[in-house]
Amino acid sequence: MRKKIIFGNWKMNGTNAEVKAFLELVNKNIEKSDVIAGLGLPFTALQTGIDCAKNVKIAAENVHFDKNGAYTGEISIQMLKEIGVEYVIIGHSERREMFNETDVTVNLKAKALLENKMIPIICCGETLQTKEAGQTIAFVNNQINKAYENISKVDALKTIIAYEPIWAIGTGKTATAQDAQDVCLAIRQNLAKIYDQTTADQITIQYGGSVKPGNIKELMEQPDIDGALVGGASLIADDYVALINYS
Ligand code: G3P
Repeated sequence: MRKKIIFGNWKMNGTNAEVKAFLELVNKNIEKSDVIAGLGLPFTALQTGIDCAKNVKIAAENVHFDKNGAYTGEISIQMLKEIGVEYVIIGHSERREMFNETDVTVNLKAKALLENKMIPIICCGETLQTKEAGQTIAFVNNQINKAYENISKVDALKTIIAYEPIWAIGTGKTATAQDAQDVCLAIRQNLAKIYDQTTADQITIQYGGSVKPGNIKELMEQPDIDGALVGGASLIADDYVALINYS
């Protein structure tokens, strides 16, 4: 049975003081032991996050795939390892849209992270136009096929997928639990074609896109949704705790 993995994604938010205060509050109030709680933080707050988090895994929000070099402003895997970061969100739609992230760079980053025994959270998701054209599953599975190119079965088991329909991100328009389940099931069926059913059944697939304390329970009850990647609601300590302690 896959453990639920619920991560916040603070995006470009969070001073070190805010991270410290947030985690001190969260540490006291997380009750559920059957959920892996995590938090994606900006690079400047990662060390504070690692130092202050008790039952919360800290994720970076991006990384470069090369060891080092002339990539002004970029962050290497070694830099994250030095801080003790284990998880890295890659391929978020905001990075694909605004910072030239592509299926190719997502695959390069996933392979580099796995080579370094780190856990990629691989984001995928379609635009409203793609959804309205009835092309969601084809589009998302094309992203998955490219993200997992030349990734072994053993390494695939160490990855997390975050299905985040772009039209649901930051809009308050959450996918219905059934729609989210349908896409996550289709992703899992595709993983079974790439690898095999046993492998597919063990890979965590999160849903992201306007997840809130009021809708997380129904989403988590879906058989192929193994967690959530939460933006806005994760910025508020009480909401973050309610998300992790959902029942
Ligand atoms: O990575 C999670 C994020 O894109 C979802 O944002 O604000 O819709 O929960 P939000």
